[in-house]
Amino acid sequence: MTTGVRIRPMNELDIEGICRIDEKITGRYRPEVWEQRAAYYIRRDPDSSQVAEVDGRVVGFMLGEVRGGEFGLEEPTGWVEFFGVDPSSREKGVGRRLIEALLGHFRAKGAHVARTMVAAQDKDIAAFIAAMGFAPAPLTALEKRL
Ligand SMILES: CC(C)(COP(=O)(O)OP(=O)(O)OC[C@H]1O[C@@H](n2cnc3c(N)ncnc32)[C@H](O)[C@@H]1OP(=O)(O)O)[C@@H](O)C(=O)NCCC(=O)NCCS
Repeated sequence: MTTGVRIRPMNELDIEGICRIDEKITGRYRPEVWEQRAAYYIRRDPDSSQVAEVDGRVVGFMLGEVRGGEFGLEEPTGWVEFFGVDPSSREKGVGRRLIEALLGHFRAKGAHVARTMVAAQDKDIAAFIAAMGFAPAPLTALEKRL
């Protein structure tokens, strides 16, 4: 049930609401992190990143954008990068509506594929992403500690 939930593009005024949700998820209040992230996505594409609001209060956010030419993949890819739904607003379809809005925008910008990365220990996020129709990609994530 998503009655009363409005999905709309993120703007700078949403940063405080996003920080509040992030704090509930991570236990850390990080305004400078979200100011930087929001500024990046709004500058790159003001319509791609979305928030969900109920009665003017931000209850969810999802940040992403279309990029191409990475990892030897020439096709434009819609990247889903940061998201969170307020714990009190979960399991009501807010996450689904946010990702549908991003995917619709990615399609409109010419992307035929969406991608994301999920840490192996984040089982809840993996379950949500799988429920949204994402499947393991024929790519290997590699890292080297510096
Ligand atoms: C993952 C998250 C976005 C889901 O939001 P939500 O609004 O509760 O999701 P929805 O209600 O839209 O659920 C959509 C689907 O995902 C599934 N799903 C969502 N969370 C799930 C979970 N924890 N376990 C299993 N399935 C889950 C639902 O069952 C639903 O499937 P269905 O539509 O087939 O019934 C939310 O739990 C969250 O913000 N988690 C923390 C994210 C985080 O740590 N972010 C920081 C890193 S960027």
